[in-house]
Amino acid sequence: MVQSQRRLKKGYEIEIRDAQISDVDDIWDVFNMVVDEGVYLPVSAQVKNKADKRSWFYELITAGDFCLVAILKDSAGSEKFLGQVTIETSSEWDGIDHVGILGILVHPEYRNIGVGQSLIEEACTEALARGKKKITLSVFHTNPRAIALYSKMGFEIAGRRKCQFKVNDVYVDEILMEKFLVPASELDRAPDT
Ligand SMILES: CC(C)(COP(=O)(O)OP(=O)(O)OC[C@H]1O[C@@H](n2cnc3c(N)ncnc32)[C@H](O)[C@@H]1OP(=O)(O)O)[C@@H](O)C(=O)NCCC(=O)NCCS
Repeated sequence: MVQSQRRLKKGYEIEIRDAQISDVDDIWDVFNMVVDEGVYLPVSAQVKNKADKRSWFYELITAGDFCLVAILKDSAGSEKFLGQVTIETSSEWDGIDHVGILGILVHPEYRNIGVGQSLIEEACTEALARGKKKITLSVFHTNPRAIALYSKMGFEIAGRRKCQFKVNDVYVDEILMEKFLVPASELDRAPDT
C-alpha cells in the first residue's frame, strides 16, 4: 500500500497514495485536459463515458498493475487532485511480466513543482516491491520537460523510432527510455552470441 506525504517546491504539501475507484473521474479529467493540450499524447479524443473510466480501473487492478495519485492538501483540509502515474504490464507477451510500463500525467496548473518527480519515485519503489525489474516508457522527442525529468530520475534512452506518431499534422519521434530497478548485471541474462 502506498501512502506518503511530501513537501514540494513553493511549500506545497502533497500526498501520494494508491488510486481508488472514487478517483477515476479526477484521473480522467486530467487525462482529458492533456488530450486538449494536443501535444503530449498520441490521442485526440477525450474519454467521457463513465463505464469506460471505471472499467479501465478495474482492469488495471485485476491485471495486478497499479495507479498512484497525487493530492494537494491545504491547512483547511481541502484537497485538490494533481495527477497520476500508472505502472502497467504488457498484456501482449507472457515473458515480459518483469517490466512495468510507466505513464504519467500532471494537472497543467501544477507542473514544475515536483509532482512528477514524487510520483515517479513512489511508482518505482512500489514497482520494485511488486517484483518489477525495470521500467520502460515512451515519450515524444518534442517533450523536453518529460525527457529531462525521466533522465533526472535515472531513465536512459534505449531507442528512437523516427516519425512514429503524427500529432497536429507533424510527425514526431518516439523516444524509448528504460530504468533498471535492479542492476542488469544481477539478472540471469543469456550471453551475447
Ligand atoms: C511531464 C510531466 C509528467 C512532469 O511532471 P512535473 O510535475 O511537471 O515534473 P517535475 O516538476 O517533478 O519536474 C520537471 C522538471 O523538468 C524541468 N523542466 C521543465 N521544463 C523543461 C524544459 N523545457 N527543458 C528541460 N527541463 C525542463 C523542471 O525544471 C523540473 O526539473 P527540476 O526539478 O530539476 O527543476 C508533466 O509536466 C506533464 O504531465 N506534462 C504533460 C503530459 C506529459 O508530457 N506526460 C508525459 C508523456 S510521456
